[in-house]
Amino acid sequence: MRVIITDSYDQLGKQAAQLISDSINEKPKLVLGLATGSTPLGTYKSLIELHQKQQVSFKQVRTFNLDEYLGLGPDHPSSYHYYMYNNLFNQIDINPDNVRIPKGLSEDLDTECADYEKEIKGVGGIDLQILGIGVNGHIGFNEPQTPFGSRTRVVDLAQETIEANARFFDNRADVPRQAISMGIRSIMHARRIVLLANGASKAWAIERSLQGPVTEDVPASVLQLHPDVTVVLDREAAASLTL
Ligand code: PGA
Repeated sequence: MRVIITDSYDQLGKQAAQLISDSINEKPKLVLGLATGSTPLGTYKSLIELHQKQQVSFKQVRTFNLDEYLGLGPDHPSSYHYYMYNNLFNQIDINPDNVRIPKGLSEDLDTECADYEKEIKGVGGIDLQILGIGVNGHIGFNEPQTPFGSRTRVVDLAQETIEANARFFDNRADVPRQAISMGIRSIMHARRIVLLANGASKAWAIERSLQGPVTEDVPASVLQLHPDVTVVLDREAAASLTL
């Protein structure tokens, strides 16, 4: 694992965006796994800036998002579909046909989850997977105790995730209790993984994931078993690491 500790959230975003942009310039048809939440917002802002400066084009890039809330359609402002278009896709030259986000309103969830896995496989697998991390160490919506062999499926959100994500909804009661999430195994199949974390609330999860035992109690600890992981942190998120 390569760990990069940056001075600020702004720097974290710039470094992560540069890394993504370099990968796209190396392989214009990159298959990119994307995350949502607060953490990657700075990265997406920096990617948009790089695109505006004509330093990167997304014309041939394909994307797969990690997860989506069950029951929220693409037009719901708290859906991850809406988030991705609002915070990135509308401001870059990506082809919407190359964008895949789990369908939170699908009426046949088993087929949707199986198709998702097949589509990733069909384009040769994910080249670069961006991840955030939950305060409990979750990646995607793979909460503690998720089997490492899990694939894309419907999951229940942990109570701490519901609390943490309530800020994106008008009322806490509006936070969906379930989501579609890529599994741990689906994530681990990516050729390269970049994990991002900022802020003191992530220090515990980062320390357990990078320097604790590999255990399903802390889902991100599985990343210790992956051959190509880069972790980009700010000082607060790195505060509990023994360096
Ligand atoms: P956050 O969420 O970026 O909003 O902190 C990260 C996550 O839950 O994976």
